[in-house]
Amino acid sequence: KSLKAHFSKQFLVGSAINAQQAKRTEQDTDALIITQFNTITPENELKWERIHPKPDAYDFSLSDEYVHYGLANNMFIIGHTLVWHSQTPDWVFENAQGELLTREALLARMKEHIHTVVSRYKGKIKGWDVVNEALNEDGSLRDSKWRQIIGDDFIEKAFTYAHAADPDAKLYYNDYNLYKPEKSAGAAKLIKSLQDKGIPVHGVGLQGHYSLTHPALNELDDALTLFASLGIESMITELDVSVLPFPSEAIQGADISQDLALNKALNPYPDGLPEAQQDALTARYKEIFSVFLTHQDTLTRVTFWGVNDANSWRNNWPMRGRTDYPLLFDRNSEIKPAYRAVMTLT
Ligand code: XIL
Repeated sequence: KSLKAHFSKQFLVGSAINAQQAKRTEQDTDALIITQFNTITPENELKWERIHPKPDAYDFSLSDEYVHYGLANNMFIIGHTLVWHSQTPDWVFENAQGELLTREALLARMKEHIHTVVSRYKGKIKGWDVVNEALNEDGSLRDSKWRQIIGDDFIEKAFTYAHAADPDAKLYYNDYNLYKPEKSAGAAKLIKSLQDKGIPVHGVGLQGHYSLTHPALNELDDALTLFASLGIESMITELDVSVLPFPSEAIQGADISQDLALNKALNPYPDGLPEAQQDALTARYKEIFSVFLTHQDTLTRVTFWGVNDANSWRNNWPMRGRTDYPLLFDRNSEIKPAYRAVMTLT
C-alpha cells in the first residue's frame, strides 16, 4: 500500500523534491517518491533566482530535470512559483542604472518571465502557483516591490499572462497561514475579485507549515469551507508538522550551538524523538488528515514539503540548526507511526 493508492479516491498525494532527488542520486528517497506519490512540486528549482538569475540569462538545467522526472513517473507536475517577493533577485525591480522600474517596465518583465517559463513547460506542468504569499496576516495585500511598483493589479496581470501562455494549465493562489480567519478572508476576497473580472483562477494552495498546536482544527475546517464556497479547488501544498517550540522573533537569529540552555529549550530532540512526542505527532497528523477528508469534495491535493525528516527545511526554519521531525518518513526514509495512522483513515 502507498499514500497515493490509499487516497486515490480522495486527493492526489505529493511531495516537494529537491535537485538531488530529481537527478535520482538518492536511492532511499527515490524509491519513496516513486512508490508513495503521484504529484511533485520543485522545492527551489523553478524559483525566479534559480531559473532567471540575470536579465538576459535563463538556466533551465535543474527545472528540466525536475519536469523530466515527473513525466517519466507519470506524475501531476506542479510549477512553483512565478511571482513572489522572496527568492527573486533585486535586479528584477531595477533598470540597468539601479533605479526602480516603472509600472510598465515591470509588467513587461513579469510578462516576459511568465511567458518564457510557462510556455517552456506547456502541457507538462499542469498546475502553477502563479502568485505566492501576496497577503499580510490581517488579509491586506503585502507591500512587496511587485505591489509598490505595479499596484494591486499585479496579481491579476500575473494570472492573465500565465493563462495566455498555457490556457490548459490550472492556476493557483498560494499562501501560508490561510487557516487564520482574517487571512483566509483576505484570500477569499482576492480570489472573488479575480473571478468577478473574469480572470482565470482555479485553486487556492494552503501551504500547511503546521505545528502540534497550530492550526486549531475548527480554523482549518472553516477555511476549507470558505474556499469551497468560491467554487474552486483547495490544495494543501506544503505540509509539515513541526514538533519544536516556535521561537520568538527576537531569538530566531540566535546561534543556539553556542548556548547550552537555549539549545536545550529550542532544540530539545537532537538525538531522536522521544515516544511521547512521537505519539503527539501521530495524533496530530491523524486529526489534521481527518479534517482534510471531510473536505474531499473540494480538496484535490495534499503535498508534503519534503520527502523525509532529514531533508526538511523545518530543521532550519524559523531558526537554523535544529533537529525536527515534521514528515511521515524518518531520517532513514523509514515509515513513521504517523504514516500508519493516516493510512487507517478513509
Ligand atoms: C523554502 C525551501 O524549502 C528552502 O529550501 C529555501 O531555502 C527557502 O524556501 N513557502 C514557500 C516555499 O512557498 O517555496 C518555501 O520553500 C517555504 C515557504
